[in-house]
Amino acid sequence: MGASRECIDVARHLFPATKNLAYFNTAAVSLGSTVLSEAYSKFIADWTGHGFDFVYAEQAGEKARSAFANIIGARVEDIALIPSVSAAAGLIASQFGKADRGESIVIGEREYSSNHFPWRLLERKGYEIRQIPFRNGGLEPDDIAEQADGGTRLIAFSAVQTASGHRSDILAIADIAGRAGAMTFVDGAQMAGALPVAPYLDSIDVFATSDHKFLLNAGRGMGYCYIRESVQRSIVPTNAGWKAGAVPFESFFGPDMRLSQTASRFDNSISWLAAIGDDAALSLFDRFGVDTVFAKNIELVETLRDRLAEIGRRAVDLPDANQSTIVAIPLDDTDPAALLDHLKNAGVVCAARDGNLRISVHFYNNSDDIDRLISALKD
Ligand SMILES: Cc1ncc(COP(=O)(O)O)c(C=O)c1O
Repeated sequence: MGASRECIDVARHLFPATKNLAYFNTAAVSLGSTVLSEAYSKFIADWTGHGFDFVYAEQAGEKARSAFANIIGARVEDIALIPSVSAAAGLIASQFGKADRGESIVIGEREYSSNHFPWRLLERKGYEIRQIPFRNGGLEPDDIAEQADGGTRLIAFSAVQTASGHRSDILAIADIAGRAGAMTFVDGAQMAGALPVAPYLDSIDVFATSDHKFLLNAGRGMGYCYIRESVQRSIVPTNAGWKAGAVPFESFFGPDMRLSQTASRFDNSISWLAAIGDDAALSLFDRFGVDTVFAKNIELVETLRDRLAEIGRRAVDLPDANQSTIVAIPLDDTDPAALLDHLKNAGVVCAARDGNLRISVHFYNNSDDIDRLISALKD
């Protein structure tokens, strides 16, 4: 915990690109901060001047693990370092043996493929893969309830959908999973660092994310996977290597295999450069306060929605509970490339995903950015 917190309004100055750009594309990759570039520059200067300090880089990875645990309100012992959502899904999918009759996996039909392909592959083991069509840009609990039954082994969904910004009702879906006796796998790539996860954590079995979006290191290479303690006990660390050891630096050779007693036995070997970057990038959450970051994001998205409504741009209409830091506007007949070009010429960066103009905010945005976007959209 930082002793005294800086006012979040100064955060913008740590992201130099905000001087020239109204950047609304954190849902793809975050902007880079001076804190990140200084950490990289220093590490590379030390590397070239004195040799590579991998012990320091491993320590940075541990600090990043703790910072991430703090951001989602988890115990650090429950966080594994797994570099991508797909790798985390693969770890869980690899636990499933040949299906018994009637066993199924429930997933979204239009989920991001990292949280879709690993489950589809379980069809080869005999599982029925029940793909639920999206409503309102995401998965609605009622639709899941119709498909989940006593044979359902796992329900996988995104906390926030990439293309529409639809935020899942995690508690309702977890409740359905609980009644079916199924595991919940939550893809947190568009929620971690953007919005609070802590209120939902008790109902989630596995929550996985990479680092390149709202966690502020677009260079990527690290990822974080919360695994509920009871689930840790019931699964096998299929990727275990030295890093999974109780004391990794004493685990290079056998014949003993003393695995970590915490979620770190599910760790993959990390990218040392990414660890240096994540340690620096994630420190900003503590510097400004995790809750302050989330509150600022909610404020920004409310302003954005109001301003869009004022100019008659209809965002995908979602109940408050399903809103996130991503706002999507159906493109209808608009050519996405032409619109993105027009915005880019006005210094505004957005994205087009699955038929929507996607606008995502993070705490380094401000009302000037929103003004710029609105006037560009009015043209
Ligand atoms: C919802 C969602 N999940 C996952 C990812 C990334 O998946 P992976 O970590 O497997 O590259 C993204 C975007 O990069 C995403 O938007």
